[in-house]
Amino acid sequence: MRTDTPLTIYRKDYTAPSYLVDTVELGFDLDPARTIVANRMTMRRNPASGQREIELYGEEIDLVALRVNGKTLGKRDYRIDGNLLRIPNAPEDVVLEIETICAPEKNTALSGLYVSNGNFITQCEAEGFRRITYFPDRPDVMAKYTVMLRAEKQRYPVLLSNGNLVEEGELPGGRHYAKWEDPFPKPSYLFALVASNLVCQEEKFKLADGRTALLQVWVEEGNLDKTDYAMQSLKRSIRWDEERFGLELDLDRFMIVATGDFNMGAMENKGLNIFNTKYVLANPRVATDLDFQGIEAVVGHEYFHNWTGNRVTCRDWFQLSLKEGLTVFRDQEFSGDMVGTDSGRAVNRIDQVRTLRQVQFPEDAGPMAHPVRPDSFVEINNFYTVTVYEKGAEVVRMYQTLLGREGFRKGMDLYFERHDGQAVECDDFRRAMADANGRDLAQFERWYSQAGTPRVRAAMRYDAAAKTVELTLSQSCPPTPGQPDKLPFHIPVAVGLVGRDGRDIPLVIDGEPRGNTAVLELTAAEQSWRFTNVPELPVPSLLRDFSAPVVLEYDYRDEDLLHLFSHDSDPVNRWEAGQRLAMERLLKLTADVTAGSRMQLDDTFVDAMRKVLTDDALDPAFREQALLLPTENMIAEQTEVVHPLSIHMARQFVRATIGTRLRKELMAAIDANQTPGEYSPDAEAIGKRALKNLALSYLAAATDDNEAIDLAGQQFEQADNMTDKAAALGALIHARAQSAAGALQDFYDEFQGEALVVDKWFALQASAPSTDVGAVRALMQHPAFNIRNPNRARSLVATFCMANHVQFHVPDGSGYQFWAEQVIALDALNPQVASRLARAMDRWRRYAPVLQAHMKKALQQVNGQKKLSNDVREVISKALA
Ligand code: PHE
Ligand code: ZN
Repeated sequence: MRTDTPLTIYRKDYTAPSYLVDTVELGFDLDPARTIVANRMTMRRNPASGQREIELYGEEIDLVALRVNGKTLGKRDYRIDGNLLRIPNAPEDVVLEIETICAPEKNTALSGLYVSNGNFITQCEAEGFRRITYFPDRPDVMAKYTVMLRAEKQRYPVLLSNGNLVEEGELPGGRHYAKWEDPFPKPSYLFALVASNLVCQEEKFKLADGRTALLQVWVEEGNLDKTDYAMQSLKRSIRWDEERFGLELDLDRFMIVATGDFNMGAMENKGLNIFNTKYVLANPRVATDLDFQGIEAVVGHEYFHNWTGNRVTCRDWFQLSLKEGLTVFRDQEFSGDMVGTDSGRAVNRIDQVRTLRQVQFPEDAGPMAHPVRPDSFVEINNFYTVTVYEKGAEVVRMYQTLLGREGFRKGMDLYFERHDGQAVECDDFRRAMADANGRDLAQFERWYSQAGTPRVRAAMRYDAAAKTVELTLSQSCPPTPGQPDKLPFHIPVAVGLVGRDGRDIPLVIDGEPRGNTAVLELTAAEQSWRFTNVPELPVPSLLRDFSAPVVLEYDYRDEDLLHLFSHDSDPVNRWEAGQRLAMERLLKLTADVTAGSRMQLDDTFVDAMRKVLTDDALDPAFREQALLLPTENMIAEQTEVVHPLSIHMARQFVRATIGTRLRKELMAAIDANQTPGEYSPDAEAIGKRALKNLALSYLAAATDDNEAIDLAGQQFEQADNMTDKAAALGALIHARAQSAAGALQDFYDEFQGEALVVDKWFALQASAPSTDVGAVRALMQHPAFNIRNPNRARSLVATFCMANHVQFHVPDGSGYQFWAEQVIALDALNPQVASRLARAMDRWRRYAPVLQAHMKKALQQVNGQKKLSNDVREVISKALA
């Protein structure tokens, strides 16, 4: 915690490390109140630097001893300046020994070494290792680690670290030790240790080259009935990376450890992944379909990091997307391949598009907008963003779209051939892709350097006499902080032409047949393409499969959209047509509410919804996506001045209208999509439950449909899985059913021993429009609430501020007042969690004037705090800038 103005760090200021570290030997005497860390490093001057000063970072640790080549340094031999320890005029080769003390039980920030439910856990990315020992804590310093752990044996029977266990044994005084060795050089952010009384599910697994690896999933004793799915996901991940990318597990042992106190989703420490329990623990009783999917994705993600992130890592934190964008792309492809069917894959893709629009586009248009590879930051923890992750994944996906699957694989192979064992830049990845395919991808670099969501405007001219279509695409990109003007991007735009019969018209461009979908490469501000042999006026299907993270503008008529919604061979664009139809109406209705006009929904739209709902040729999962309306956030992004209540009422009106007008069909869908028998989280069953539960929520949204409420009540009582149970409870709460309060109490009574379900219980209430800020304050007094636990704090406080638009934005500003209080309170405990909550105010300038004034006041209140972390300070000052 510092009170002076935080420093901005610039990418252009990168300099090579002055010293390199070859080996690190760490000794830990673990004690919650006073852990002693002995660190012995062999270092040598970096010829690429020319500097003779050793630079080490340290934070919240007490220095006990410092020796260079056996000689203890006196106070004048080194300088400590904030977090920086400098040893000037150091010899060429150095054995540096450092002893420090830290207090894990006092570590509420959950960065470095901390205690979670009595167990020792570490979290070192991005800059947590410096909270364990003084070190050149930067990703371009890679060393081999040997780790000796010593702890009380009864309390901490299990001692884990990276790599291989090489020795263990007893010590006097009821203590024991374990020695671990990681054969691969790694940056400090990948270091981990766990000292605990956890237990594991383990399995031997045969790798492609015939070796056998030991796989373990470590959890608290009572959770051994929830580890199966994570273990299965891990095995599937290993197989998939072997098959799709020829990448094998390089260790004899791979461990996953679950902890209930974790700032993020999970962490890819070498051989010792540490996970938020949310992404490990599941069985049908306590986990929803979404939870199962999350586990598969995150287990995959962390495992895939072993190559994309660990074997090849980042030169500096500005390159974060090098590992994150690529690894998100890989986990997305993994999830798609696990579903297997084209339709299932499309449903996954639609989910990705929804996330981008719901969260990333707003980020890219707000005060925290930054390029995929940022140019500056105050606090790196603030840059683990949807832009770096999800937009970064879209950027990687575009290589595959431009180069084809095989070309992409060639690029990956070359990337590993060139850079295995190195810390590199995003540019190195781009160069590998270009060189492996003999392509010029110079302009593609702008996806890394320019922030903002590009707009692509399309115009089509059909010449009936010549039977040609001329398609003109133009691009622009709005200004973002520090980037007023943008240069054109290299944008792959996948297009098709849909004929009157609903079929694709084979594409011929400049005399060349291009199949049914052509990837057009838009590189200039404006470009045209001429399609020949087009027998009739087609409807253009643009940006198929969402081939680039852009906003696509085209003046579709309703009948064009209806045509695409019924026929487009590209399922993503089929869905997209429905979203456009819905968005037009939602915007109009929102304006009506604000103006006090009567709301009305046209038959055309309702009929289109009916048609897709009753089309048995379509997968239930796809039908659910097609019936799902754009979220309140997405609608807000499309309106000039945001009136959250109008948006909510408009959207509720459409939901209720669908519930009323399609009552019969929705009831039938509920009957037809039951999943009797044993619960299974396969894509087909997940799709059925999703459609059934959406139908239920629409019916329940229809005012005074008692039958729907009864149906939800029944489902709540009879459900044998959490997906159906939570959905039914949600429907009751949102319909403000009389039975909701009792159901909530029953739910709590049944699941109070399951922390992750208690999180759901808080979140369900926090997001309900019937829960006002007073009710949230009351819930904070509930014995199960604990603001120090990130999952719990997020489930109640962040859910209210980010997902309950109606109550958060009440006109008296009391929601914002609550936000300010919570950001300040959380910041004193855990700046990372506080800083994420702080971003609830990102888009404040777009709200109606009354709200804006209250929001500004709340922002200024936080900003006025003398003591704020760099994390929160950066977010708030950028919001106010
Ligand atoms: N590197 C982790 C991941 O993406 C995320 C993470 C960042 C976790 C920082 C903890 C701290 O998988
Ligand atoms: Zn990651």
